[in-house]
Amino acid sequence: MGLGSDMAQRTLDRLLNAIEGDGRLDRPGHRLEKGLAFAENLLGVTRGRARGLLHGVWLGHPLHPVLTDLPIGSWTAALVLDLTGQRRAARTAVGVGIAGALAAAATGLHDWQHTHDNARRIGMVHGTLNTLALGLYGWSWLQRGRGHHLRGRLAALLGYPVIMASGFLGGTLVFRHRIGVDQSGRQHEPLGFTPVLADRDLTDDRPRRVRAGDVDVVLVRADGRIHALENACPHLRGPLSDGWLRDGALTCPWHGSRFELSSGESLNGPATAPVPCFQTRVRDGWIEVRRAPVAATAPPGSALVRQQEVRP
Ligand code: FES
Repeated sequence: MGLGSDMAQRTLDRLLNAIEGDGRLDRPGHRLEKGLAFAENLLGVTRGRARGLLHGVWLGHPLHPVLTDLPIGSWTAALVLDLTGQRRAARTAVGVGIAGALAAAATGLHDWQHTHDNARRIGMVHGTLNTLALGLYGWSWLQRGRGHHLRGRLAALLGYPVIMASGFLGGTLVFRHRIGVDQSGRQHEPLGFTPVLADRDLTDDRPRRVRAGDVDVVLVRADGRIHALENACPHLRGPLSDGWLRDGALTCPWHGSRFELSSGESLNGPATAPVPCFQTRVRDGWIEVRRAPVAATAPPGSALVRQQEVRP
C-alpha cells in the first residue's frame, strides 16, 4: 500500500471515529426519532404495511440502497450533460435525481430509526449531507427553469461532492456497521439432527432458547407443531427467544420485525431477510433439529449445497 493511500485511510478513519464519538448528535437524533414514530402512528392500521413497503420486505432486500442509485446516477449524468452543454437534458436529469432523492430519504429515515449508537450518529451526518445536496439540486433545478443556467450549474457543482461524501457514509453504515446486511449465522447450522430439548419442557406458544451445535435456536410450539428458527434476528441480531407470538408469527423484541414460523419469512420491517429455519422431529422424548434443506434457496453448486451433499 502506498504512503498516500495509507494517509487517506488514516484520515478517513479519524473522521469516522470523530463522528461516531460525537454525543452532540444524540439529542437531535432522539427528537427526529420521536417525530418519525409520531408520523408512523398517524398511519394507524396501515402502519405495518407501510413499514414493510419502505424497508423493502416485499423485495427481500433493503429498498434504500436501491433507490440511492437514482440521485447519484442522475446527478452524475447531469454533470456530464452540463459539460457537453445539453441544458434541457441536464435539467431533466437533475429533476429525476431530486425525485429519487426524496424516495431514498423516506426509506433511509425509516431504516435509520432502528439503528443505535455509532451507526445512528453516522446516519445523522449522512442524512444531513443528503438534505444539503437535495437543497442545492432543488435550487439548481429552479434556477435552470428560470433561465439562470450558470447559477444552476454552479449549485449542481457544489452539490456533487456533498452527495459523494454522503454516499461514502452510506457505505460505512453497510460495511462497517452492517446496517441492512443479513446478520443471521446460517453457515454454522447443524447438518444432522441434533437433540436440543426434552419434549415435555417446551410449553405451547412460549418461545424457548436452545443450543444446536454452535447456533442459538428458538423453539416454538404452536398449533400442535414445533418450529425452530435461528435465535438471532437478521436485522441486528435481536434475541427472538425474548420475543412473543402474535397471529402465528414471532415478533422480535428489539424493533418489532415479525417472522412467519414455518418459513422464517419476514412479514414486516425492518428485517428484510428471512430467519434461517430448522427441521424438527421428536425422538425418544427429545426435540431434535437440523438445518432445513438449502437446495430450494441456494443456487446449484453453491458452497452450502456442496456442504450438505457430503452428509447422509
Ligand atoms: S433486531 Fe431489529 S427487528 Fe430484530
